[in-house]
Amino acid sequence: MKDKDAEHNQQQQLEVECRCEKFEEIAKVIDSYKSDPGNLIQILHASQEIFGYLPLDVQQFIADKLNIHVSKVSGVVSFYSFFSTKPKGKHTIMVCLGTACYVRGGKKIVDGLKKKLNVDVDDTTEDGNFTLKVARCIGACGLAPAMMIDNEVHKQVNINKLDSIINKYKEE
Ligand code: FES
Repeated sequence: MKDKDAEHNQQQQLEVECRCEKFEEIAKVIDSYKSDPGNLIQILHASQEIFGYLPLDVQQFIADKLNIHVSKVSGVVSFYSFFSTKPKGKHTIMVCLGTACYVRGGKKIVDGLKKKLNVDVDDTTEDGNFTLKVARCIGACGLAPAMMIDNEVHKQVNINKLDSIINKYKEE
């Protein structure tokens, strides 16, 4: 039991150190942008690269460094779909719900994935493998309905194809 506790404490210690290092990296990024709030979007991009996502304490840290209110940072984070406040899965699934895809069954694809992966939109599966998101158009309207997994576009998707598409990423 003692060994387990020690292991757990050590793990926690490592996580804290790792987090501190990431905050230091973000501070360097902000310095490189001369703490100018006009560069907020670039700073958020870089911070998301470093941290993987943008939780509230990271947003607060950025706001303090830029000397602006955290609501301004949160407003930008929630406006752009490429920013995330939750940890992302190993793979991001982006189902298109733009007009062409919507009328050809995009919503059914979203519902099928929600059921298959047991998640809601903007959530990550329990095993950390997939994050489900929706988009407005991914530039494949002629072959709708379409979805992207990471950088790969899947066209003319239908419910029956979902298993084979998803399983390919599970095996990777
Ligand atoms: S509307 Fe779906 S790709 Fe354009």
